[in-house]
This record gives sequence, C-alpha cells and structure tokens, in this order.
Amino acid sequence: MSKDYQFPPDFLWGSATSAYQIEGSPLADGAGPSIWHRFVRTPGMVKDGDTGDVACDHYRRYKDDVKLMRDLGLKAYRFSVAWARVMPEGRGRVNPGGLDFYERLVDTLLENGIEPLLTLYHWDLPAALDDRGGWLNPDVAHWFADYASVMYRRLDGRVKRWATLNEPWVVTDGGYLHGALAPGHRNRFEAPIASHHLLRSHGAAVQAYRAEGKHEIGLVVNLEPKYPASDSAEDRAAVQRADAYMNRQYLDPVFFGRYPDEMKEIFGEAWPEWPEEDYALIRQPIDWLGFNYYTRSVTRHDEHAWPLRAGVVRQHATYSETGWEVFPQGLTDTLAWLRDRYGNPPVYITENGSAFYDPPTVEGDTLDDPLRVDYLRKHLRAIHDAIGQGCDVRGYMAWSLLDNLEWSLGFSKRFGIVHVDFQTQKRTPKASGRLYAKIVASNGRALSESA
Ligand code: BGC
Repeated sequence: MSKDYQFPPDFLWGSATSAYQIEGSPLADGAGPSIWHRFVRTPGMVKDGDTGDVACDHYRRYKDDVKLMRDLGLKAYRFSVAWARVMPEGRGRVNPGGLDFYERLVDTLLENGIEPLLTLYHWDLPAALDDRGGWLNPDVAHWFADYASVMYRRLDGRVKRWATLNEPWVVTDGGYLHGALAPGHRNRFEAPIASHHLLRSHGAAVQAYRAEGKHEIGLVVNLEPKYPASDSAEDRAAVQRADAYMNRQYLDPVFFGRYPDEMKEIFGEAWPEWPEEDYALIRQPIDWLGFNYYTRSVTRHDEHAWPLRAGVVRQHATYSETGWEVFPQGLTDTLAWLRDRYGNPPVYITENGSAFYDPPTVEGDTLDDPLRVDYLRKHLRAIHDAIGQGCDVRGYMAWSLLDNLEWSLGFSKRFGIVHVDFQTQKRTPKASGRLYAKIVASNGRALSESA
C-alpha cells in the first residue's frame, strides 16, 4: 500500500517571488533606483547583460498573476517589497505611488482568497543608502526599522505574516565577500560588519513590529546542511566551519544572542567584537522562521578555499542547472536540526525549487518539466516525513511562481512552476505547476500516487 501524504489541515500552500526578479518598471511612479538597478548596468556583472527593467512585467500585470495563482488554487503568496519604491532615498520621504502598488497587490490577493506573506527586504537596497555605506553603516538599522514601520502602518492586519530579511547570508556572502551580487564588494573585513548590521536591522524591525503590528513576524534564512566527506578530524572541522558560516551565523544570534565560536577562526583579525546591547537587539523573539532549502553540500578540508578552508565534493547524483545536488533528505535532516537545536520553532518553507533545462517551446498549452516534477514531489515528501518526526512545519512556498531574473545569471536559469515567454509575457503552467495545483487541492494526497 502506498503511503498517505495528507498534510496537517491548515497547512499553508503557496508560491514565492521577489520584487526585483519579477516586477520590471523599476523607476515607475516615483520609485528610486536600487543597488540592483545599478549592478545590472555594471558591465560583466549579469549574464548576457540582462536586467530587471521589464522582467515578468509583474508591476503592470499583477492582477493577471494573482488570477493565475487563483487558477492554480494557491492559498498563499510570498512576495517582497522594493524599499526604494516606498522610500526613493531609502529614508525620510515616503512615495505614495510605490506604497499604493503594494496595497493594490495585497487587496487583489485578499479578494482572491490568497494570503499575502510579505518580505521587507529581498536584496534591493535603495541606491541612495548604498551611497551612505549601505549595510556597512550602523544607521541602517534605524533606516530599515523606519521603512518597516511605514509598511506596518499601511498594511498590518491585511498582511498577517511579515518577514524582515531574505537570506542575510546571501546578502553578505554574495554582496560583500565574493562580489557576485550587488553591491559587488569583495572584502573579508566588510562581510562580518554587513552581517552584523543586517541582524541588528532585523532586530530593530521586529522591535518596531511589536510597537505597531498585531500579527506575526519572522526571519527568512537559507540553510544548507553540511555532511563530512570522510571521518577525518580535518573534514569534520571543515564541516563545523562551513555550517557555522552558512547556517548558524544568523540563527545563533537570533535564538541565543551570540555568534558561533568558529566565526573568529574563519575571519581571524577581520572578525570584530560587538557591544553586548547589540545582541539584546538581535535576540528579539520571532513568531516563525522562514527556511529556504535548495541543496546540501558534502564538505572536505581544503586549505586553498578562501576564507573557509572548506571545499565541496561532487556526488554521483542529479544536479540542477545551477550546479546544486538534488538531495531531499537534507530538507528532512535540517528540519530535524531546527527542531532540536532551536526548540522547534514554527517553520515555513519559504522557498524550495529548482532550475532545470526546459524545452524551448510550449507545445499547445503544456510544457513538460519532469526533473522539476520529480524535485517537487520528493521535497514535499521529505517535508511530510519531517512533520511525522514532530517538526512544526506550517507551510510551503514553491520557488518560484514564475520564471524570472535569476540575479547575476539573468534569465538563463528558469525556476518557475509557470513558464514565462519573455518576448510575449505569456504565462503557461508547467507540468510541475499543474502537479502542484493537484497537491494543493488534495492537501498533499496527490503525492501518494506512485512515481
Ligand atoms: C533567493 C532567490 C533566488 C533563489 C534561486 C534564493 O537564494 O532567495 O531570490 O532566485 O535562491 O537561486
């Protein structure tokens, strides 16, 4: 007999996007430029010179996109707000045109019975704030809390689940350590400072929410479990460093008020000391944790891998187009780790998905994406297993609703459960989208069918 994959009755099924990746019209209605608006114009930083100037044109087509979600039967939608639409200079003056857009979006979602999950920051810092040091400037915590408060005042109540930051690790690692993402710095001294001010900003926004908001607020992190390539002491130590850097660096301060010990070992003289009161600010109780899961890494000691001295060992396995190993068990393992290490917080899987090669043309009204179908099914089963092991998982947001601008990889990688023809802007649900609709409609039962 096949297993029954029924999910808990109020499990929240949805999908996710982010502002810069889909909206287009970056300067419309009085918006200011963001660091991504600049970064895409820096020669060589984005594949094929792609930009988010049009992307999925969602800023103008949001009503159709909400209808698409309704047709798929989605119960929730995770999106982000472009800070520079709401505050073109990042602080001070509020731009009504930008704020109105998100209000219209939220109202349209609610009219269609779709719950909004709003992320305040998904990587698109107002360029004017970058000119003042961006995440390196301690004042960013106040700027962020002020912006957050503007959003709370306008939308709390209609939005009941808020997230402060999306993936502070990627913001820091990509933006300040390796330079592959905006603002494109590559500096070992800057990275820990950016991380810390991201965390302080998160704390300040949670604190502001307690004063203004009546519902729930959380933080979204990407977690990638690290497994040792061998039993050697060196490899096991490399796993500890890699895990501290990517996974515990953000959660330990939020849950325990301290950084992992390995951080000093990794950054050496570049690792600063911070005042105690910063940890009190960072350690605000949160209502839920957003967990973005894509892959794992099998880790070994590598003296030449800067700055972690940890490398990745390729497996005999399926890899996605972004070079990530498909490893659903890592999702179950990490949920169990969150349960054990951090006291079983309510978790939403706020992103999970895969870029695979899709056929170039849509045949009739269908597009078959068997590898993405397989990925989706296996990861949802992995979550079901974790729930069976007592993990408090409350929802799942498929990444992504639409094919979109995959940051510095441009439009070359497609993560959508809905195909987007970037010439015509036509949307076509892929087989993965159609399967997801069945899973949502059956609250998981469709996963019980074999394959
Ligand atoms: C980000 C998304 C991104 C996805 C796939 C996550 O790190 O939050 O914006 O598109 O991964 O790379």
